[in-house]
Amino acid sequence: MKKNNHTKTKELTDLVLEAQRKAYKETDSEPEPQLTKKIDWPIECLVGPGLEGAIACESKIGYVNGQKGWLIYRGYDIFDLCAHSTYEEVCYLLLFGELPTENQLSNFKSELVESQPRPETLRGLFSFPLEKMSAMALLRVGTNFLRQEFTYEDKLAYQKKHDKVYATDEDSIPMETKPMGEEHAIYEFKKKKRKKAAPGVDGLHSAIGLKSCYNLISGVAAITASVARLHRGAFPVEPKPELSYAGNLLYMINGTEPSPAEERIMDMSLILHADHGMNASTFAAMVVASTLSDLYFSVGSGISALNGPLHGGANERVLHMLRDIGGKENVAKWYKKKSENKEKIMGFGHRVYKAYDPRARVLQPIAEYLSNQDPETKKMYDTAATLEKEVVSSLGSKKGIFPNVDFYSGLVYHSLGIPVESFTPIFAVSRVSGWISRVMEYLENNRIFRPRAMYTGTFNKEYLPIDKR
Ligand code: CMC
Repeated sequence: MKKNNHTKTKELTDLVLEAQRKAYKETDSEPEPQLTKKIDWPIECLVGPGLEGAIACESKIGYVNGQKGWLIYRGYDIFDLCAHSTYEEVCYLLLFGELPTENQLSNFKSELVESQPRPETLRGLFSFPLEKMSAMALLRVGTNFLRQEFTYEDKLAYQKKHDKVYATDEDSIPMETKPMGEEHAIYEFKKKKRKKAAPGVDGLHSAIGLKSCYNLISGVAAITASVARLHRGAFPVEPKPELSYAGNLLYMINGTEPSPAEERIMDMSLILHADHGMNASTFAAMVVASTLSDLYFSVGSGISALNGPLHGGANERVLHMLRDIGGKENVAKWYKKKSENKEKIMGFGHRVYKAYDPRARVLQPIAEYLSNQDPETKKMYDTAATLEKEVVSSLGSKKGIFPNVDFYSGLVYHSLGIPVESFTPIFAVSRVSGWISRVMEYLENNRIFRPRAMYTGTFNKEYLPIDKR
């Protein structure tokens, strides 16, 4: 793999390479034969509750080996990508199947810059009660605002109905009632002249075309950052085209340019979260796309599924949990009580991994590295490290329970100045590339997802009028 110039952050590269060495010592390099072959449909597989064990499709995008703790994107090991690549390269890799050449990468970056949301897209959000909605809820509705160009079918269906509707970019919408969140509504991104999309990129179905992928990759980050700032009582800032995707994300959240180390850590974290097999949010996005709905609705469904605490919402819970525990000296007592009550510990366990999650292997030393720079984070890191020992010694070999990606990511985001309520949106920012890559791949050979349920209800009931029930 061609190595990127990560010379300024060599100590971070070394942490990843050390994590890789440890991981490789504990496993071999043989994939699971039953999960890495071409399918001759229909197939037989043993399916458990929650579709455990079900094979939903074939994919060349990524592979998770849960018994051995591997994560592979398009043939590349996650440790190698983290040590040598960048998030933009990884996005390109997931979407197009190969690492980009310099020229391809430069065009791809230009497309992302060009696809920053329009002012009216972000302004659309301001008509919502920002102060009453969570960052994930706003990201969910914001995704629909990104849907700037209707598909051909939409035009036919909606044009007549909506001809007289006020557009959000009209300057003088008559106000009949005082809008909520009015104090935020004066912010505006500078109007930009937009380049026309390359012919053939959009086609008639622009809402499932490549341009939509770029809109979503750029847009989800811009909305996440704008909401983080608005919730802090600050105005959003415009992205800087000269910054990397990760650098811009932090810049748009914090309003100051990150240091090379901060930018690199954000970049690594985006790489680690980009794709992860048929996880719940990816599957949700694919189910929606399989109905030939569009990419924006599909990503919106991914965001909705990611929100839950069993999935992406766990990272926020982990930080609250570490604060509640209060210090490493309280861990043993706290954990004993949780185990007695048979409560699940946030940031541990995984449907697929029964070994150490490779993403946690990278994030743990990075969290430790960052914690050495701030006493408050150090206290939380020490609490986390002590909790990891307790949980792994009681459930590691017994049930295959180890830290997952969400256990250390919150500490990392916290150190980068990201507010807790933006942790799950940040997960979404990164996972967009996985969602759309898998959706686009599936659509090449689409068949609507339509499983069945076993009916365990009754039959032959007589209908009784309401006054006889
Ligand atoms: N703490 C304690 N015990 C656990 C945990 C945990 N975090 N996770 C699973 N177990 C136990 C569980 O009690 C069960 O034990 P038993 O067989 O004795 O009843 C066994 O392990 C299997 O658990 P399960 O709930 O059937 O496993 P699942 O595959 O349905 O769920 C999971 C996977 C990730 C939802 C679950 O491990 C969990 O709830 N973890 C905590 C939430 C979390 O950290 N989620 C982030 C997942 S990784 C990133 C992402 O995908 O977003």
